[in-house]
Amino acid sequence: MKRFRQYRLNKKTRDFYAEVKISVSDFIYPYFVVKGEKVKDAIISMDGVFRFSIDELLKDIAEIVFLGINKILLFGVISDEEKDEKGYEGISSNSIICQAVREIKKQFPQIIVFTDICLCGYTSHGHCGLIRNHDVDNDTTLPLLAEMAYQHAIAGADFVAPSSMMDGEVAYIRQRFKEEKLSTKILGYSAKYASSFYTPFRDAVFSSPSFGTRKTYQIDFRTIDQGLNEIAADIEEGADWIMVKPAMPYLDIVQRASVCFPNYPLVTYQVSGEYAMLKQGARVNFFDGKQIFFESLIAIKRAGAKYIVSYYAKEFANEQ
Ligand code: PBG
Repeated sequence: MKRFRQYRLNKKTRDFYAEVKISVSDFIYPYFVVKGEKVKDAIISMDGVFRFSIDELLKDIAEIVFLGINKILLFGVISDEEKDEKGYEGISSNSIICQAVREIKKQFPQIIVFTDICLCGYTSHGHCGLIRNHDVDNDTTLPLLAEMAYQHAIAGADFVAPSSMMDGEVAYIRQRFKEEKLSTKILGYSAKYASSFYTPFRDAVFSSPSFGTRKTYQIDFRTIDQGLNEIAADIEEGADWIMVKPAMPYLDIVQRASVCFPNYPLVTYQVSGEYAMLKQGARVNFFDGKQIFFESLIAIKRAGAKYIVSYYAKEFANEQ
């Protein structure tokens, strides 16, 4: 008989034999930024997540810095009246994200800032690129994404994170950075599956497509090879870091990616729907919030993730 229970005797032995660990420095904390002052607007579907104006954002960042979080991911949120066909608000040098990045870097130069590069929060139709013939047009979208990335980079972003799933977006942005002699890094949202788990996020940034779906550009979740090939392509195009998204329902892909691409830091995104699901379950006492998040985050790391984008990061840090 093999004696396994000796490894589980008490907390001390369990801690000793734990193979997978997680710490505050593993997290990238997402923020939603809006115009105005003194805005801290609760997002109904995501308990504990807010839309911040820049002044309030800076206060919150002071708190997470104190807790030891040093990586953040920014999303801009604008009103419907400010949106247009091409998402101009998102690519201007004075966009809400450019303003936020400049202020953050002034006050917290040590924070590593990632910015989301996508048109969906800024276009009137809510799609991630330009529309032609009732579908998103890949190649005419690329220069706009590169312009947005360039603006974020000169505002001071450390990483841009292209998430629109247009073919060639990483190469296009990398080329633009080369021309401008910028050393800004690129985190490719490489394997981004077309997922219903993004629904609460779309409410948060008012970016639900007004027609059609994102299935013509995001990856079909019945595929494995497409996910891995998208990652390989992003690396070839010049991505520094890679991502699999969502996290928990896609841990098979996370595991494969970590084995196939061991030399590229692998980020996973515990997306809005995953967060909302666990939060709601905890709210009605189906399970303990702290325990369920700890287990889910360990599972993501066990599958091979190096970093985790999670709305839970601040709470996790608070629990340490
Ligand atoms: C923008 C973008 C989305 C998410 C991150 N970047 C939405 C989408 O593609 O539909 C989802 C994040 C989340 O659900 O937490 N393209």
